[in-house]
Amino acid sequence: MADLSTKYLGLNLKNPIVVGSSGLSGTVEGVKKLAENGAGAVVLKSLFEEQIIFEEIEMLNKDKSIDAYPEAADYIRNYTKENSIKNYLTLIEESKKAVSIPIIASINCTSAGEWIGFAKRIEKAGADALELNVFILPSDENKSGEENEKVYFDILEKIKKEVKLPISLKMSSYSAGLTQLIQKISWSKNVDGIVMFNRSYSPDIDIDNLKVVSSNVFSSPEDITTSLRWVAIMSDRIKINIAASTGIHDGKGVIKQILAGATVVQIASTLYKNGVPHLNFMLKEMNAWMDAKGYKDLASIRGKMSQAKTKNPAAFERVQFMKYFSNIE
Ligand SMILES: Cc1cc2nc3c(=O)[nH]c(=O)nc-3n(C[C@H](O)[C@H](O)[C@H](O)COP(=O)(O)O)c2cc1C
Repeated sequence: MADLSTKYLGLNLKNPIVVGSSGLSGTVEGVKKLAENGAGAVVLKSLFEEQIIFEEIEMLNKDKSIDAYPEAADYIRNYTKENSIKNYLTLIEESKKAVSIPIIASINCTSAGEWIGFAKRIEKAGADALELNVFILPSDENKSGEENEKVYFDILEKIKKEVKLPISLKMSSYSAGLTQLIQKISWSKNVDGIVMFNRSYSPDIDIDNLKVVSSNVFSSPEDITTSLRWVAIMSDRIKINIAASTGIHDGKGVIKQILAGATVVQIASTLYKNGVPHLNFMLKEMNAWMDAKGYKDLASIRGKMSQAKTKNPAAFERVQFMKYFSNIE
């Protein structure tokens, strides 16, 4: 059997399948189940900036009389904030006690704001690393691409000063200059790994009821192609770790991403769709392929099919393929 062990963010993983931040990793029981089924590491469910704000509003709305007492309102604001954070710190502490695999904490953020101070407490609680999910939708007509993307650099610079933990940035693929952006982020020295890419909530329109609704929460195996393209393009251009994410549903998907140059992969939807024990199956599929091909470890396949190493590098940059479309009648 091949050796699937690897290093990610300086942490030793027994295999490259990391369970991505989701409801699956929102409780200690969930984390235990993921570890028992072979996860190489787990990213905990995120602490959302918005979640904290939402809880504050909820509490304040429950007791309107509180508005008459601004000091009490301040107290409740602080209390709810404390509560969310305390629960999260407990999740980190208990998860660390319950399993031996690395535990990566996660924060969803949109600015280099007040939350940065909380990172120290996440470090103290024993998290092995911190993943920052920064989602920027370039929809503001008053902001240029550069202004939008500055937030990545601001957050990473501030957080690096705050903690010694390894940091990964989970980002979206929205950028007109994605290659340069990822390169610049990696050169900043404020980040140890990049998660390529997050899958966003996307709106859809229900034409029967004329309502805006949520599109599919879960990805499909076909969704692997965006991250596969960009992992292949970027893996020889940056020195920091890459976690490939979105659309990895089976062992084949993991192998593809490692061949493209990913350090590890992150999975979520496939475990929701197929159950957590599917993780074991993915590892078996990987092992069977490695054995059949005679590969002993991940280093011997990592990046073998990256854009720089493949015989046909243009394939990863091809977007308009005349032959491809014209053959379809
Ligand atoms: C139900 C659900 C909850 C999620 N919650 C979070 C979250 O709290 N924080 C986060 O960064 N990503 C979250 N994600 C995104 C996943 O971590 C992952 O990036 C995304 O689903 C793409 O991977 P997949 O195709 O394997 O699902 C969630 C995904 C799902 C399906």
